[in-house]
Amino acid sequence: MSGAEREIESYSEAEAKAELDRLHELLSEADRAYFEADSPDMTDAAYDAMKRRYQALEIAFPELKRPDSLSEKVAGAPVEGFSKVRHAVPMLSLAKAYTDEDVVDFIERGRRFFERDKDLKLVFTAEPKIDGLSASLRYENGVFVQGATRGDGTVGEDITANLRTIADIPQKLKGTGWPQTIEIRGEVYMTYAEFEALKARSAAAGGQEYVNPRNTAAGSLRQKDPSITASRNLKFFAYAWGYTTADPAPTQYDAVQKFGEWGFRISPLMVRASSVEQLVAQYRLIEEQRSSLGYDIDGVVYKVDDLALQRRWGFVSSEPRWAIAHKFPAEQAFTTVNKIDIQVGRTGTLAPVARLAPVSVGGVVVENVTLHNEDYIKGLDSNGLPIREGIDIRIGDTVVIQRAGDVIPQIVRVVIEKRPADAVPYEFPHTCPVCGSPATRELNEKTGKEDSRRRCTGELICAAQAVERLRHFVSRGAMDIEGLGAENIELLFNKGLVKTAADIFTLRDRRAAVQQAFAERREEQARLREEASGKSRKNVRGVEDRSFKGLDKLFAAIDARRQPELDRFIFALGIRHIGETTAAVLAKTFSTIEEVIRVGKETAAHPEDPHSVFPYVDGIGGTVIEALIDFFGNQRNDDVLDALLVQVRPKPYVVTVSATSEVAGKTVVFTGSLEKLTRGEAKAMAERLGAKVAGSVSKNTDILVAGPGAGSKLKDAQALGILVLDEDQWLDLAAK
Ligand code: IVH
Repeated sequence: MSGAEREIESYSEAEAKAELDRLHELLSEADRAYFEADSPDMTDAAYDAMKRRYQALEIAFPELKRPDSLSEKVAGAPVEGFSKVRHAVPMLSLAKAYTDEDVVDFIERGRRFFERDKDLKLVFTAEPKIDGLSASLRYENGVFVQGATRGDGTVGEDITANLRTIADIPQKLKGTGWPQTIEIRGEVYMTYAEFEALKARSAAAGGQEYVNPRNTAAGSLRQKDPSITASRNLKFFAYAWGYTTADPAPTQYDAVQKFGEWGFRISPLMVRASSVEQLVAQYRLIEEQRSSLGYDIDGVVYKVDDLALQRRWGFVSSEPRWAIAHKFPAEQAFTTVNKIDIQVGRTGTLAPVARLAPVSVGGVVVENVTLHNEDYIKGLDSNGLPIREGIDIRIGDTVVIQRAGDVIPQIVRVVIEKRPADAVPYEFPHTCPVCGSPATRELNEKTGKEDSRRRCTGELICAAQAVERLRHFVSRGAMDIEGLGAENIELLFNKGLVKTAADIFTLRDRRAAVQQAFAERREEQARLREEASGKSRKNVRGVEDRSFKGLDKLFAAIDARRQPELDRFIFALGIRHIGETTAAVLAKTFSTIEEVIRVGKETAAHPEDPHSVFPYVDGIGGTVIEALIDFFGNQRNDDVLDALLVQVRPKPYVVTVSATSEVAGKTVVFTGSLEKLTRGEAKAMAERLGAKVAGSVSKNTDILVAGPGAGSKLKDAQALGILVLDEDQWLDLAAK
């Protein structure tokens, strides 16, 4: 992303859709790299900029919001190996502020939300945002009983044994007055001194390379052997809490001070502040001390101090409304582009990657950076408008790389004065580097514009696409076959043991060959390790011992997935534009795979008028229907699906409604004036409880909340026999 991104307001709907899809793909990829591999390949700032642009597009074009929108998703699923812990109270993330104006907006939002309380003085806390991993520590009767990672926010991993090795985490709480049960939350991190010491020890022993303190802390927490975690001398700051039988104190500040009394380390840089000026002053102060703290921080967190007000202001999806992280600006560095490689994705997209002279930016060595697509390399966005002042990227160029915190790094500028005299414009290949098929740019019929991505047309013969499709099929959100990760799939494909998804389920018949393939790889890796000792262990990641027992386990894991949930199965098929959410909508709509196939094929037979067959369904638009037509109109997919269904029986989809609140799933309309709540507060409260808030009364309305001065809506509701409540009755119902 560069500063010269095109204004969202100037997009046509079709352009906005293309941009949204592009960002969706990049962000999903970044999430995977970040959360599942602990290997960042985009900077925080780049990621955040991308996410903000994505959200801005959704706001400007609400009808384009994808059912699998990333705005509502907390990325980062737990990895295998540790048992899972469902957090009694979800672990949230934080909204972000990048400028002082964003902070002003945050406070303004608070003022508007609480506008009824004329005399209310909003007080905040300000404290450093530690760049580590959050953990939740459960204390019962003052004794540490379980500790977990954040995971996806709802389910994390049980890492109690590892957390017990951290000196900052008391086994027993000190003092008195702690709640019977409380989950203390905070950040596990590694100091620079410890990180350097570990690197030195590792170098001396010819061990692995470590990227940065944060990733190393993450890796240290995931050790199977707690004595390794212990040797890493991790630290912990307590700053929040989850489930508790009683509030630790009436305010955030006092609660954290209590944590200090109970034996936790708390940030000495936490203060109370009650104006933008005071908050920003603390931000500057912390920023000044940043380099001398001895550990990574990436911003300052502001939180509403009064817990009662926190509760009233509430949450949006995965973020509290009452807190915000004011981030430090991105760090930059110079490097050179040594090479440009092309990778081929699942749908055949040719993705260019710049190989850079390794450079350290804010503590991370950056060696690769995505170049997105052909136009991006030329210095143009998807509308042919200049980015980076229209300067192209060439092999040999000196470039400015930017990153902040961790995620994906990006090129922000080409230093044109340093361009070598013999540097030539990069020629994007017009054939697939893997299968040699022509690679073309599709023409969007509606806009008449070329797709920004060049795609390999060798769909069926391209090995890269086939492997990517298989990787997707077994991935966590899809069939989720334990022990059959990306590396194993690639190996089995390369050895000719798995060509299509159905082959996975007949692997047992080729047991000897599978065993041999794993054995050969083990040997190869042992050899590589020897050769490259002292080098990064990254190259040999994913080594799995497939002894006899391991193989039986693998076959059992495959068998365990012969009756997948229908939505996972549909998602696993890897049909373009069908993400997890759309797959769930399809599953819910058609209930069985047979019905999905029947409707799919019939729709494919009437491409000129799809809705003569395909029902109008919320969340399924033209793009998805076109993708279904493409998929089911292709005989080859039919064959693959038929073969697969001989092996696999997806379970019919059953809708389960979890009614946590009396008002969950109900449609509520508010009318007249409310006295205890503002409209915004009332709406937020209803939505939090799982209700839908509508603007007008119809036969779909379940409850009308009518205050004094209610007019025609009240009459309509009475005529329709809809339940009418006053504000107090509504509050009673909501509290149930
Ligand atoms: S409060 C209810 N305070 O930032 C809010 N988070 O982007 C929960 N973090 O997952 C978080 N320092 O890992 C909070 N002083 C701090 C923090 C902090 C670092 C991390 C935490 C969280 C992430 C949210």
